[in-house]
Amino acid sequence: MISFKQTFFFAALIFFCVTACKNFDSNTDRMNKFKTEEAKYRPLFHFSPENNWMNDPNGMFFYKGIYHLYFQHNPNESVWGPMHWGHATSKDLKHWEEHSIALIPDDLGTIFSGSAVVDYNNTSGLGTTQNPAIIAIYTNHDSEKADKKEAIDFQTQSIAYSLDDGFTWTKYTKNPVLKNPGIIDFRDPKVFWYEPNQKWIMSLAAGQEIQFFESKNLLSWSYLSSFGDGIGNHGGVWECPDLFPLPVNGKGISKWVQLVSINPGGPNGGSATQYFVGDFDGKVFTVDPDFQKAMEKDHSYWIDFGKDNYAGVTFSNWSNEAKGVLYLGWMSNWEYANQVPTTKWRSAMTLPRELELTENQEGYRLRSKAPKDWDKYTTKTLKKETFSHQKETLLIEKGTLDLSAFQINLNLVNLENNKYTFLLENSMGDSLMFGYDQNKHQFFIDRSQSGDTSFSETFSAKPSTAPRTKMSDSLDIYFIVDKMSLEVFFDEGETVMTEIFFSQSPFETLSLKTNAETVKIENLQIRELSKK
Ligand code: FRU
Repeated sequence: MISFKQTFFFAALIFFCVTACKNFDSNTDRMNKFKTEEAKYRPLFHFSPENNWMNDPNGMFFYKGIYHLYFQHNPNESVWGPMHWGHATSKDLKHWEEHSIALIPDDLGTIFSGSAVVDYNNTSGLGTTQNPAIIAIYTNHDSEKADKKEAIDFQTQSIAYSLDDGFTWTKYTKNPVLKNPGIIDFRDPKVFWYEPNQKWIMSLAAGQEIQFFESKNLLSWSYLSSFGDGIGNHGGVWECPDLFPLPVNGKGISKWVQLVSINPGGPNGGSATQYFVGDFDGKVFTVDPDFQKAMEKDHSYWIDFGKDNYAGVTFSNWSNEAKGVLYLGWMSNWEYANQVPTTKWRSAMTLPRELELTENQEGYRLRSKAPKDWDKYTTKTLKKETFSHQKETLLIEKGTLDLSAFQINLNLVNLENNKYTFLLENSMGDSLMFGYDQNKHQFFIDRSQSGDTSFSETFSAKPSTAPRTKMSDSLDIYFIVDKMSLEVFFDEGETVMTEIFFSQSPFETLSLKTNAETVKIENLQIRELSKK
């Protein structure tokens, strides 16, 4: 006879085995899923976190030959949650190394976006002039307070300092350094040194405007002025501002540029970043009157018209008159960032871009210079000087290059009133289309057939478009693909479009389609990129 005890023991054993097997199966499933995701979607040259969630770039600075990138990070899940600052460094902006988390939530709240500066003159007294402190200025978001009905003052600005060049951080004991005056959205401080008055300036998103503050020591701040009322796009929350001077190409003068991210309200839906050109006198930012007129006529002043470049700001301690500024954004969109089909990690940054200011007949334009210097990572190059285009020209034949990551430049000359469509295709039937429609004077990206689009209704509901701002019958195009991203720089970066995609397998061919008869392709250069 089997006793009750024995029956219980066997039942428990069977239950244990079934559960263990199930868990083993689901763990193996997860591991396989992770492996597939890694192979299919993990970018080679764009920073993506090893695990879990990432949004905005934060606290970027360049120091002693190293680029530091901190980022909005939820280290526990692959969706947005309690924000920390993750940390990564690079020496060439193409290969990134992730380090331990830089800032964790505290009594004042979680750690939202912000910036970092090198305090060379030891204005804060937190370092020395021999070993300057790196000071991070960020928003503390008190989520408990925020959850309470009618709460408004739950975002404040705090600082932390590092005495080992940005690797470990100590929070300042008298945080916050800037209290909330009663504004619900009061965040994303971006600080820079204003040489003429020997003081620090902070731009901060405050509701539907940008507020400027000044400080001699980074520890106490006073209000200067506000910008934004009645100007620019107000279709969503204003976030992640950045103010910096840029030389105007060939003019011998400088102008100030104010970046403001906005969500929603972007030109193709969801999140995007607008820019304003004007002057800053150490107190007030004033938009250039001609720029303002042009804006009122047609608001096409977006740093990127693609759906996936948000919350971008510039690196501290990098800019100088000759170089301009170095910028990088988050390569996603709040419309679907939490749903994109990677589960081990979520989202990547854009490639860094140098920003330049130009002035032409239509006024000021901010240009993004495409990242160059790919020699170290180029595994094959194809070149062709000039050739006439037929109805459909196969630019890259199947089997010639691995198109998981590649970069291409070319010129289209003798444009007719026609549409020029580049098609990236694979044998699974996926195709990613982008190009230029001269009839409409419009660039476009259509990712509706690019692979998995099922996770969001807005991801590919309609093609994204961008107006062409340049008048010319030739068109310069540079684009770069890295596993799950396409970044296209038209007209030497005067119009940029960045979009992500999730194809079932890497693309195998690239062709150009058009009915134009006279168009020629010049200076075609294709580089296969890899880390082998
Ligand atoms: C922009 C943003 C910031 C905020 C952060 C929170 O994407 O909403 O305004 O500081 O993300 O993660």
